[in-house]
Amino acid sequence: MSEHYVADLTELQDSGRKIVRVGSTDIALLLFEDDVLAFQNVCMHMGGPVGEGMLINAITAEFDADGNYVGDRFVEDEMHLVCPWHGWEYVLPGGQCAAAPERRLRSFPVSVRDGRVLVDMEADTAISNG
Ligand code: FES
Repeated sequence: MSEHYVADLTELQDSGRKIVRVGSTDIALLLFEDDVLAFQNVCMHMGGPVGEGMLINAITAEFDADGNYVGDRFVEDEMHLVCPWHGWEYVLPGGQCAAAPERRLRSFPVSVRDGRVLVDMEADTAISNG
Protein backbone atom coordinates (compact mmCIF):
# COMPACT_ATOMS: atom_id res chain seq x y z
CA MET A 1 0.00 0.00 0.00
CA SER A 2 1.26 3.44 -0.89
CA GLU A 3 -1.22 5.96 0.43
CA HIS A 4 -0.77 9.63 -0.34
CA TYR A 5 -2.62 12.53 1.22
CA VAL A 6 -4.16 14.50 -1.65
CA ALA A 7 -6.81 16.82 -0.22
CA ASP A 8 -9.03 17.72 2.66
CA LEU A 9 -12.56 16.43 2.24
CA THR A 10 -13.89 19.97 2.74
CA GLU A 11 -12.14 21.05 -0.47
CA LEU A 12 -14.14 18.50 -2.43
CA GLN A 13 -17.34 19.36 -0.64
CA ASP A 14 -16.86 22.96 -1.76
CA SER A 15 -16.03 22.36 -5.41
CA GLY A 16 -16.98 18.74 -6.15
CA ARG A 17 -13.59 17.98 -7.64
CA LYS A 18 -9.90 18.63 -7.51
CA ILE A 19 -6.99 17.77 -9.80
CA VAL A 20 -3.86 16.73 -7.92
CA ARG A 21 -0.46 15.37 -8.85
CA VAL A 22 1.20 12.46 -7.07
CA GLY A 23 4.69 11.89 -8.42
CA SER A 24 4.21 12.14 -12.18
CA THR A 25 0.54 11.08 -12.16
CA ASP A 26 -2.29 13.59 -12.46
CA ILE A 27 -5.34 12.42 -10.56
CA ALA A 28 -8.89 13.71 -10.77
CA LEU A 29 -10.72 13.53 -7.46
CA LEU A 30 -14.49 13.63 -7.81
CA LEU A 31 -17.07 13.76 -5.07
CA PHE A 32 -19.82 11.45 -6.32
CA GLU A 33 -22.81 10.82 -4.11
CA ASP A 34 -21.11 10.10 -0.77
CA ASP A 35 -17.87 8.74 -2.18
CA VAL A 36 -14.61 10.25 -3.35
CA LEU A 37 -13.47 8.78 -6.68
CA ALA A 38 -9.90 8.98 -7.98
CA PHE A 39 -9.14 8.55 -11.68
CA GLN A 40 -5.96 9.14 -13.56
CA ASN A 41 -6.70 12.39 -15.35
CA VAL A 42 -6.09 10.85 -18.76
CA CYS A 43 -8.84 10.06 -21.26
CA MET A 44 -8.59 6.74 -23.09
CA HIS A 45 -9.21 8.43 -26.44
CA MET A 46 -6.35 10.89 -26.87
CA GLY A 47 -5.19 11.63 -23.35
CA GLY A 48 -7.39 14.61 -22.60
CA PRO A 49 -7.95 15.88 -19.05
CA VAL A 50 -11.06 13.78 -18.49
CA GLY A 51 -11.45 14.82 -14.87
CA GLU A 52 -12.14 18.39 -15.92
CA GLY A 53 -15.19 17.35 -17.92
CA MET A 54 -18.89 17.82 -17.25
CA LEU A 55 -20.96 15.48 -15.19
CA ILE A 56 -24.22 14.72 -16.97
CA ASN A 57 -26.87 12.06 -16.78
CA ALA A 58 -26.71 9.45 -19.52
CA ILE A 59 -29.06 10.09 -22.44
CA THR A 60 -31.03 7.35 -24.14
CA ALA A 61 -33.10 7.36 -27.31
CA GLU A 62 -36.81 6.52 -27.09
CA PHE A 63 -38.74 4.68 -29.82
CA ASP A 64 -42.42 3.94 -30.23
CA ALA A 65 -43.88 0.46 -30.76
CA ASP A 66 -43.23 0.76 -34.51
CA GLY A 67 -39.57 1.58 -33.99
CA ASN A 68 -39.89 5.26 -34.83
CA TYR A 69 -37.63 7.61 -32.91
CA VAL A 70 -39.67 9.79 -30.58
CA GLY A 71 -37.00 11.62 -28.60
CA ASP A 72 -34.27 11.43 -26.03
CA ARG A 73 -34.47 11.29 -22.26
CA PHE A 74 -32.03 11.49 -19.39
CA VAL A 75 -31.35 8.30 -17.43
CA GLU A 76 -31.74 9.47 -13.85
CA ASP A 77 -29.63 6.75 -12.23
CA GLU A 78 -26.64 6.78 -14.60
CA MET A 79 -24.14 9.64 -14.36
CA HIS A 80 -21.43 10.18 -16.97
CA LEU A 81 -18.16 12.08 -16.87
CA VAL A 82 -17.67 13.68 -20.30
CA CYS A 83 -14.14 14.35 -21.54
CA PRO A 84 -13.81 18.03 -22.47
CA TRP A 85 -11.75 17.38 -25.58
CA HIS A 86 -14.01 15.24 -27.80
CA GLY A 87 -16.86 14.07 -25.60
CA TRP A 88 -16.01 10.50 -24.77
CA GLU A 89 -18.17 9.46 -21.83
CA TYR A 90 -17.35 7.40 -18.76
CA VAL A 91 -19.88 5.89 -16.38
CA LEU A 92 -19.60 6.75 -12.70
CA PRO A 93 -18.64 5.48 -10.24
CA GLY A 94 -16.58 2.81 -12.05
CA GLY A 95 -15.17 4.85 -14.94
CA GLN A 96 -16.27 2.39 -17.64
CA CYS A 97 -16.18 3.79 -21.15
CA ALA A 98 -19.85 4.24 -22.11
CA ALA A 99 -19.21 2.99 -25.64
CA ALA A 100 -16.96 0.09 -24.61
CA PRO A 101 -17.79 -0.98 -21.02
CA GLU A 102 -15.05 -3.60 -20.94
CA ARG A 103 -12.56 -0.73 -20.79
CA ARG A 104 -12.37 1.89 -18.12
CA LEU A 105 -10.33 4.73 -16.73
CA ARG A 106 -7.41 3.92 -14.49
CA SER A 107 -8.62 4.44 -10.96
CA PHE A 108 -7.26 4.27 -7.45
CA PRO A 109 -8.79 3.28 -4.10
CA VAL A 110 -9.58 6.21 -1.82
CA SER A 111 -9.77 6.38 1.95
CA VAL A 112 -11.05 9.29 3.99
CA ARG A 113 -9.70 9.47 7.52
CA ASP A 114 -10.23 12.38 9.87
CA GLY A 115 -11.34 14.51 6.94
CA ARG A 116 -8.18 13.74 4.98
CA VAL A 117 -8.44 12.16 1.52
CA LEU A 118 -5.84 9.48 0.84
CA VAL A 119 -5.20 7.73 -2.49
CA ASP A 120 -3.51 4.35 -2.75
CA MET A 121 -1.23 4.66 -5.77
CA GLU A 122 -0.08 1.04 -5.79
CA ALA A 123 -3.54 -0.44 -5.94
CA ASP A 124 -4.39 0.54 -9.50
CA THR A 125 -7.85 -0.88 -10.17
CA ALA A 126 -7.89 -0.60 -13.95
CA ILE A 127 -9.12 -3.66 -15.83
CA SER A 128 -7.94 -2.41 -19.17
CA ASN A 129 -6.56 0.92 -20.27
CA GLY A 130 -4.97 0.06 -23.56
S1 FES B 1 -9.23 12.96 -25.54
FE1 FES B 1 -11.02 12.57 -24.40
S2 FES B 1 -12.56 12.42 -25.89
FE2 FES B 1 -10.75 12.71 -27.02
